[in-house]
Amino acid sequence: MAEAPLLQVSEVSLAFGGLKALEEVSFSVAPGAIKAIIGPNGAGKTTLFHLISGFLRPDRGRIVFQGREIQGRPAHEVASLGIARTFQLVQLFDHLTVLENVMVGRHRLTRAGLLSGALHLPWTRREEAAIRERAFACLEFVGLAERAAQPAGFLPLGLKRLLEIARALASEPTLLLLDEPASGLDQAETERLGELILTLRAQGLTLLLVEHDMSLTMEVAQEIVVLNYGRLIAEGPPRAIQRHPEVIAAYLGTDWQGDGATEREG
Ligand SMILES: Nc1ncnc2c1ncn2[C@@H]1O[C@H](COP(=O)(O)OP(=O)(O)OP(=O)(O)O)[C@@H](O)[C@H]1O
Ligand SMILES: [Mg+2]
Repeated sequence: MAEAPLLQVSEVSLAFGGLKALEEVSFSVAPGAIKAIIGPNGAGKTTLFHLISGFLRPDRGRIVFQGREIQGRPAHEVASLGIARTFQLVQLFDHLTVLENVMVGRHRLTRAGLLSGALHLPWTRREEAAIRERAFACLEFVGLAERAAQPAGFLPLGLKRLLEIARALASEPTLLLLDEPASGLDQAETERLGELILTLRAQGLTLLLVEHDMSLTMEVAQEIVVLNYGRLIAEGPPRAIQRHPEVIAAYLGTDWQGDGATEREG
């Protein structure tokens, strides 16, 4: 028998007024897989992430995570079930330190939570130390430990993206959603990001990746879903997607070079 999917998206639709941002989109993600969602600007990729992570509620359709229906549940509840995400437009607390930003991501797992932590109640101190330690380990993992004490707002964009990943990891997710993690990164940073993504997968994490950098996508993803104007137009392994006539047509006039990854593999 085939392994049950970790995430199952079934016939999900959402309209903003008259604009159909997503229409009857269905796909599944196997445990331990890296699946990429691609598509031209406005295709509905970020909207799909908002639906999975509880930031938006679908008009129709079901989203099942580990056997539980999660569509329409609030974001904090979805997070506590084990889904973490990063944002296309980085969302950090600029005035908090790099370490504190990660500690915020950790707090969902603790008894004390943010309020009593802020009040420095004595019985939370040991917990606070454990959170700090764990958050620091997440920073070490993404290579930001040396920046721990700096205000997050001072980081260049490439490092902010890594910090968002560290914050997401601090909640010990089962499924990680990355929305354009390579956007604004130079080539060396993008290559390191690719290694990081593969390391996470090797550690057992399941990843959904929205990305415009096709070389990175083709390198790390086993499966690709293609959205265009809110509809799923293709799904399959990278090599099949690169040759798919409808995908090529959808990208006509954009700067996507469909053969980029093939060259890099050679
Ligand atoms: N809150 C909103 N209100 C109205 N329309 C919206 C809203 N959010 C998204 N849209 C529209 O829905 C469509 C899908 O947007 P979405 O952000 O999901 O696209 P995307 O695939 O992530 O694009 P990009 O690659 O540019 O990030 C677009 O036409 C967008 O303008
Ligand atoms: Mg987007």
